Amino acid sequence: MPSLTVITRDNVRREIDAEVGLSVMELIRRAGFDELVALCGGCCSCATCHVYVAPDQMERLQPMAGDENDLLDSSEYRQPQSRLSCQLTFEASMDGLEVAIAPEE
Ligand code: FES
Repeated sequence: MPSLTVITRDNVRREIDAEVGLSVMELIRRAGFDELVALCGGCCSCATCHVYVAPDQMERLQPMAGDENDLLDSSEYRQPQSRLSCQLTFEASMDGLEVAIAPEE
């Protein structure tokens, strides 16, 4: 099975199984990382699923839509490698992706 590496706010790194077709947010939540709150359940309206993608892996992702971009603009922690994990559908080509959970707003 493909894998996803998650880095917590305490810098703990864990590799988890990643089912293709689920969002990166769902994968993180299902693996038990409660610090990624995902308050809106994936409706792209809360930004509590904010992650930082490893900089050299940004181009492996689907492009960012306007509403994701707008919501990230409201975050004081936005960085060039910011994405909302609920907006990233995990694909087989994303095997080995590495994301760090962004600070709490
Ligand atoms: S879960 Fe709310 S924006 Fe992603």
